[in-house]
Amino acid sequence: MNSIQPYIEQHKERFMAELMDLLRIPSVSADSKYKGEVARAAEYVKKALEAAGADNVEVCPTPGHPVVYGEKIMNPQWPTVLVYGHYDVQPPDPLELWDSPPFEPVIRDEKIYARGACDDKGQVFMHIKAFELMMKTNSLPCNVKFMIEGEEEIGSAHLGLWIRENKARLGGDVILISDTSIIANDTPSIDVGLRGLSYVEVEVTGPNRDLHSGVYGGAVANPIAILCEMIAKMKDENNHITIPGFYKDVLELSASEREELNKAPFDLNEFKQDLQVDDVYGEKGFTTLERTGIRPTFEVNGIWGGYTGEGAKTVLPSKAFAKFSMRLVPNQKSDDITRLFADYFKSIAPKSVKVEVRPHHGGEPVVTPTDSLAFKAASKAMEETFGKKPIPTRGGGSIPIVALFEKELGLKSVLMGFGLDSDLIHSPNEHYGVFNFLKGIETIPLFFHYYAEMSR
Ligand code: BES
Ligand code: MN
Ligand code: MN
Repeated sequence: MNSIQPYIEQHKERFMAELMDLLRIPSVSADSKYKGEVARAAEYVKKALEAAGADNVEVCPTPGHPVVYGEKIMNPQWPTVLVYGHYDVQPPDPLELWDSPPFEPVIRDEKIYARGACDDKGQVFMHIKAFELMMKTNSLPCNVKFMIEGEEEIGSAHLGLWIRENKARLGGDVILISDTSIIANDTPSIDVGLRGLSYVEVEVTGPNRDLHSGVYGGAVANPIAILCEMIAKMKDENNHITIPGFYKDVLELSASEREELNKAPFDLNEFKQDLQVDDVYGEKGFTTLERTGIRPTFEVNGIWGGYTGEGAKTVLPSKAFAKFSMRLVPNQKSDDITRLFADYFKSIAPKSVKVEVRPHHGGEPVVTPTDSLAFKAASKAMEETFGKKPIPTRGGGSIPIVALFEKELGLKSVLMGFGLDSDLIHSPNEHYGVFNFLKGIETIPLFFHYYAEMSR
């Protein structure tokens, strides 16, 4: 595979310029006013796949944002790799905290700054360019099918249906995804697990209208205060979640599995310094790596109500709202947890308020195998390009579609991501290292090479 380096060296400026063109398209899936831009990004991905040499490239409409499909069938006898990624991005707000505008990508300090630079346009683009490289150097040893969706950041609501409707053409052997991180640029790792998700919104209503806080205050429940009390009841003094039955399906790891997990390089002081916190906080009896990797959580994502404008307004509000996310681990089930949450949340509400629980998207947790050919191929490829064997780790984030691929297509995934946790995905000043982008393009062809070799 000595054609990889020279090809990258010769074309890397163009690779980056093309990625920057994709980053200029504000494909924010959550916000309907960007619908046209999301469609434009899908077209861009389609053209990029075609230019790289893919066949039957199609922007497939869904009731939501489209899925871009493309393939290259080299030989029906060869193994088939399905590459999944997403071209949609998170909203860029708050805009004023960006050092340069989120959709005007720039390279500073060897990093590409833009919304989606790492999550996931930059990582999707590595696959398109690695594919181009293999096509142009006649070295593609597998069949490839690309599924690049536009709704990952809003829960992949329509991808499940699309997969079921397209089952016939989605046959393959493994799913390859670059949408996660490595520990550090000198410490490669491969995620072998992702958490699931149950996301809910609640509305707490007190009196039927906003009231004068003097005329009525003291005699009527304040929904904001009640909501805060209820949130405080979600965890006990050990930071265990108090929802009855919440832990009943949690797969507890053995002492040796936990020991293995805690061997991953992790510096608590660096972690604290980076976040400028004097101490970490979480479930008693578990380390930080365990708290983000193998333990479920309950987090408040947002809370609002009452008067928050300039000056003072003496109001006793009628309503208070909050958004909660619960990260799930094997073998918790998103629907079960949502139900347990709703039952508990309603049960702790005093009679003086009414409570409504509205479930948003969910997703199931996954663990991926480390003894599969595909994992071994990914490990070998990374070992070759990083000069170190990658460490299997548990990712704290969620990619709900991974569990769905397993259910609908019977296929396991390999999470060969190249980002860093410090890339500020979902935050202002998201960026992606040029090193990481090029490292991905270098490693992916080696994955295909070793996967084909091991499959024969
Ligand atoms: N790429 C991330 C998930 C991720 C990031 C996994 C880093 C592991 C390490 C993905 O785009 C994402 O943000 N997922 C959402 C879930 C989705 C349903 C909104 C998440 O994890 O919050
Ligand atoms: Mn992502
Ligand atoms: Mn994301």
